[in-house]
Order: sequence, then C-alpha cells, then structure tokens
Amino acid sequence: MASTRPRVELIPIFEDNYVFCLIDHDNQEALVIDPGEASKTSQFLKDNGLKLTGVLLTHHHNDHIGGVRSLVTEHPAPVIAPKKNKTQIGAADTWVAEGERVQLGPFNFEVLELPGHTLGHVAYWEPKLKWLFSGDVLFGLGCGRIFEGTYEQAYESLQRFKKLPMETLIYCTHEYTEANLNFCNMLSNLDNSPITGDSEELEMYANQLHSRREMDLPSVPLKLSVEMRVNPFLLAKSVSQFSYLRDLRNKQ
Ligand SMILES: [Fe+2]
Repeated sequence: MASTRPRVELIPIFEDNYVFCLIDHDNQEALVIDPGEASKTSQFLKDNGLKLTGVLLTHHHNDHIGGVRSLVTEHPAPVIAPKKNKTQIGAADTWVAEGERVQLGPFNFEVLELPGHTLGHVAYWEPKLKWLFSGDVLFGLGCGRIFEGTYEQAYESLQRFKKLPMETLIYCTHEYTEANLNFCNMLSNLDNSPITGDSEELEMYANQLHSRREMDLPSVPLKLSVEMRVNPFLLAKSVSQFSYLRDLRNKQ
C-alpha cells in the first residue's frame, strides 16, 4: 500500500504562537514541536486518535516549552532539546547539537544551530520533505529579536537559510507577518533605505497575506523562495545593514 505524505497541523496557542503537529497518517502517530502549552495539543491528539512519538524543542523560552511536562505526562514520549539549553530546559531525554540527526517515525531531521535570538537555538531540517522548523529565528518579512546572541551571530544564522533548497517551507513559531509588513512598508517609504526588496513582489505578498488573514488562515509556512525576495533581513548584505534594520524594527 502506498504511504500517505505526512502533513503538518498548526495549533494556535496564546496570542500568536503555533504548535506544530507533524502527522504520520500511515501509523496514526505524531510529533509535536514547541508546545508552549499542553491542553490544545493534547486535545488535538485525542480528537484525531494520534499517538505522540516525540516532542522537539527549538529553544528555552517558556512560550515554546511551557506545555512539555503536562503533554508528556498525558502522552508519554521522548523530548528532544538543544544541548546548549541543558540548564534552562532541564528535563529532556535527548540533547542535540549542530549536524546531529533525529530519526522519529518517517521523519529524519538534521539539527542546525542558529544562535542570535538565544544562544542555544536550534532548527530542525527535514531534507526529504523540505520542511524547516525554525522557532524564533526568522519570521514572515522579519526575524527574531536578539536576546542573547550578537548581531553577527543572528546575521550568520540567517545566511544559513539561503543555502537550503528554494522550495523549502519554513515553519516559524509566531504569526508576526502582518506587523512585519507594516515595517517593510515604512522601510520602502524611507528616503535613504539601504534595503529595497522587489516592490511588485511585496505588493503581491501583501495581497495574499491580507486575503489569508481575512479568512483567518495562517501566513505560516513561509516559502523560502519568496522570503528571499522580500524579507529585508534576508536581503541585508552585511552585518551593519542587518543591525540597522534590527534596531529600526525594535523601535517600532
Ligand atoms: Fe523565543
């Protein structure tokens, strides 16, 4: 029997977070990424008769890990977390670092360390499916705030996205795209903006974004090929351009 392609379900929590549930239909199993709270995810698993086979964490912020304990109490499964966050996260079963692999059911992830937002931040890259679960590193038309790392680290982390296949789908944790679009529009109205993305492309992006959000649909996953042409933080050509943008965005 031919196997069904796995899919990702987005479970909205809090104001603007998504928990990602990766579903392996053939075996009625699922993985969960960054459960900031447990109840909605747990309910989703029960409603769909799914067995939890693993929880992956990208970084130690509470809106990404707050629900782990209750979730695995109700649905026992191994927890995989970044090695560099061992002290902050505490309870996990496997600690992962750059280049390591995580094999769970039909999924085979490569771990990418992407410091900047936090020092220990990792992303999980599934090369066969071309899915990237990147936590708070990159957002639609934006990027994560730099809380722990340096501008250089955050800039270098963004450069790594550009080496992935252009058809990559980016599952970022927050629905920030509309707020970031306002930033992009402000940027294109500046007299001396160092970053000028493709304005027609940005207009198309804005139209699609508005129609999706009006129907209450997420803007996630992002298409890497599109973000490459319009996301000012990916268009920044140097650490200084990137820092200028990040500082400007922080003031908004
Ligand atoms: Fe975060």
